[in-house]
Amino acid sequence: MSLGMHSDKIKEFIQKRKEAEKGGGEDKILAQHGKGKLTARERIDLLLDQGSFVELGALTTHHYHEFDMQSKKFYGDAIVTGHGTINERQVFVFAYDFTVLGGTLSQMGAKKITNIMDRALQVGCPVIGIADSGGARIQEGILSLDGFADIFFHNELGSGIIPQITASIGPSAGGAVYSPAMTDFVIMVDKVATMYVTGPEVVKTVLGEEVTFDELGGAMTHAEKSGVAHFVAKNEYECMDYVKTLLSYLPQNNSEEPPVVLNDDDPNRLDNNLINIIPDNSLQPYDMKQIIHSVLDNNVFFEIHELFAPNVIVGFGRLHGKTIGMVANQPMVLAGALDIDSSNKAARFIRFCDCYNIPIITFVDTPGYMPGSNQEHLGIIRHGSKLLYSYCEATVPKITVVIGKAYGGAYIAMGSKNLRTDVNYAWPTAQIAVLGSEAAVKIMNRKELAKAKDPEALKKQLVDKFSDKFANPYVAASHGTIDTVIDPAETRPMLIKALEALANKRDKRLPRKHGNINL
Ligand code: HXC
Repeated sequence: MSLGMHSDKIKEFIQKRKEAEKGGGEDKILAQHGKGKLTARERIDLLLDQGSFVELGALTTHHYHEFDMQSKKFYGDAIVTGHGTINERQVFVFAYDFTVLGGTLSQMGAKKITNIMDRALQVGCPVIGIADSGGARIQEGILSLDGFADIFFHNELGSGIIPQITASIGPSAGGAVYSPAMTDFVIMVDKVATMYVTGPEVVKTVLGEEVTFDELGGAMTHAEKSGVAHFVAKNEYECMDYVKTLLSYLPQNNSEEPPVVLNDDDPNRLDNNLINIIPDNSLQPYDMKQIIHSVLDNNVFFEIHELFAPNVIVGFGRLHGKTIGMVANQPMVLAGALDIDSSNKAARFIRFCDCYNIPIITFVDTPGYMPGSNQEHLGIIRHGSKLLYSYCEATVPKITVVIGKAYGGAYIAMGSKNLRTDVNYAWPTAQIAVLGSEAAVKIMNRKELAKAKDPEALKKQLVDKFSDKFANPYVAASHGTIDTVIDPAETRPMLIKALEALANKRDKRLPRKHGNINL
């Protein structure tokens, strides 16, 4: 910049801008790098298209004077906010700056975050938050708590209108965990990110329990056990790739369609090998992901929540260039039975797809909801019914393919016709019945079996008879709850044709404030 007239003012401006770019200063940047972490601005540069970032609020400071805080003022006040593009699509972004007072949230920091959330909401584009924070700035007390409350309010305000994604790359303590939890997707960097409401020290004091940061709230813990994390990234670079890939499947907001990404995969492509994936003995497991990969464009499936409740599979793919949300049972894990975690996982994914105009494809092979006092006592009724609720509520195009077992409540839950699924296909290998043959015979023929001379022989005879009659798709087809029994080889073209037929689906419900999903 030429200094010319007003040179003092320009010098002052340059000086302030330089200072702001340094966040908490050189030492803190070195310390951040020393922990193998990038700074907030470096992260934003990694995420956004080169040169597209425009920072807003770079010269913000806090205005707090207790606890000698006037001597700890840093431009930006621990949050970097602004806008830019990812693959040429507009996004708003905020990143906690750990080099400033541990990335803690102040009143002004919260104001910066909610400012960009307001802008994003008004223009209808995604918000990406990069978390690395000690939580509420203790010195600011209630002001900081109020700041978090404001952010939570904005998370809710944007929910279902603009996609919100969290990249968790450092500690997220206290209040800093709940905002990510209210976003649509959380990516955590392994061995770097931690998320917990109260840290190991408090846990030890209150409960006497010794636990490390990583065990308590590390990426793997949240990916496998709590389900807070949808993805585990090996490092910050992979983390940003996850954000970019996710966004590539999503529309900018709920009033748009997802982007169409044309490719050269033939929409009429058949796969004659698909039938061979299903074992002769339906009690034997197989990998549902083989079928999912086979039907999708270029065999690409972007799985979400891969490590959490793997008895159900959810994720995005494309069919003839259009984004679809896939929900499928996984016979390899717990025989594909539906339990509490898998019901929650699938229900949340279905609701996300419904918010953002993403058609839902369901592949079914499940023996039912998981029995047992453990699941009953933890609330399988309450949680399992979320799956029913979310399928009923979804008005996007819905297509179900019954591949193997579809028994009882799980048959109903996995996108059955009467939950208002638009098109229901079945493979010839489908078994659609109220119960598995063995269980059905034990109940229906209990007295006969008790009296029989050779109960085993009689049971086998009755089971075979029941199986012949009901372990097929044809009874359901005769009642019209299966529209078409299809050749497995033609699953891909049949899905694409159905999606084309349903492209202009309209399904308006009566106005209401919101439903009361059984949380
Ligand atoms: C003020 C904080 C702070 C906080 C960290 N710092 N957390 N300052 N308020 N909440 C400061 C440190 O004093 C230090 O300042 C700098 O940030 C870096 O922190 P370190 O501890 O040196 O870094 P590190 O060893 O990497 O540990 C990071 C950490 C740890 C794991 C996040 O700082 C920590 O446990 N902090 C407390 C986390 C917490 O309990 N937060 C809850 C807040 S209450 P100097 O000047 O030395 O560099 C809350 C309630 C919300 O959030 C409820 C919502 C529902």
